[in-house]
Amino acid sequence: MVSYKDLGLVNSKEIFAKAFKGKYAIPAFNFNNMEQLQAIIAACVEKKSPVILQVSSGARKYANQTLLRYMAQGAVEYAKELGYPIPIVLHLDHGDTFELCKSCIEFGFSSVMIDGSHHPYDKNVEETAKVVEYAHKYDVTVEGELGVLAGIEDDVKAETHTYTEPSQVEDFVKKTGVDSLAISIGTSHGANKFKPEQCTRNAQGILVPPPLRFDILEEVEKRIPGFPIVLHGASSVPQDKVATINRFGGALKDAIGIPEDQLRKAAASAVCKINIDSDGRLAMTAAVREVFATKPGEFDPRKYLGPARDSLKELYMHKVTDVLGSAGQA
Ligand code: G3H
Ligand code: 13P
Ligand code: ZN
Repeated sequence: MVSYKDLGLVNSKEIFAKAFKGKYAIPAFNFNNMEQLQAIIAACVEKKSPVILQVSSGARKYANQTLLRYMAQGAVEYAKELGYPIPIVLHLDHGDTFELCKSCIEFGFSSVMIDGSHHPYDKNVEETAKVVEYAHKYDVTVEGELGVLAGIEDDVKAETHTYTEPSQVEDFVKKTGVDSLAISIGTSHGANKFKPEQCTRNAQGILVPPPLRFDILEEVEKRIPGFPIVLHGASSVPQDKVATINRFGGALKDAIGIPEDQLRKAAASAVCKINIDSDGRLAMTAAVREVFATKPGEFDPRKYLGPARDSLKELYMHKVTDVLGSAGQA
């Protein structure tokens, strides 16, 4: 058993309480490799933002859980070396079983998500409560989910949203004891969040997707006042990155994300954690494709992963400063 406290990590309790009061959201950035981790830490240290390092079960398989744990420990030391030790949470993203959550807690994670949103309500309550009971023994915080996002999560694909039912949230939070709750208000995973026919065009001819269901969010806030809410599927799918990918041989079609002004509005509400993975994937892919296409003689991975890392860092700095509002809050 490794305690996250010995690794220099923190759980999400205090940073969520501050984010709630300060009307901003903590970034939850996914990572699978060293360059992503370096970019996240370098960006958040430079902007003095707390950060949640997010590991999916896919990432855990890809990178090896022991290596990931040491990488997170290394991230704490790296932040100190850069001159500003920010609060860092190591969080399991979309844990699907009690066993997986337990294993992560034993491996030094400071926070876990048990995603029972695909189960019937009672089973979701039961699974979530079981994880909470175990996690709280070790002061590890737990995120639950109510409602199903459209899109792809690991191997599970949902065609349409099942919006969170506000009448369930009070009962869910009371029965499970979760520390935060992910809700479904119109965001979704991946780079294709909306079909063009769902969008309207603004005066500049840019496709504008339907707004998030802030009415549901408000209703949830009324029922569980002061409780930290989480938004998954919150990438904005920067169109310049999509264009670069497609200019240099990619084939991304109808890639549409959540407008940043919608996320800014959410961050000022009870939403204390905003999950962003796909935008980082796009930034990295655009940079790598550009090097491959413009410098075909290059074969040193540092020469394409380096620019990818720089582009990622720039993206994360923009997110914490202009979208989430967490810059300067560490
Ligand atoms: O919600 C899913 C995250 O973007 C992680 O994706 O399961 O492909 O690592 P992944
Ligand atoms: P995006 O695919 O919109 O980046 O969402 C990531 C996410 O929710 C991770 O849990
Ligand atoms: Zn997610």
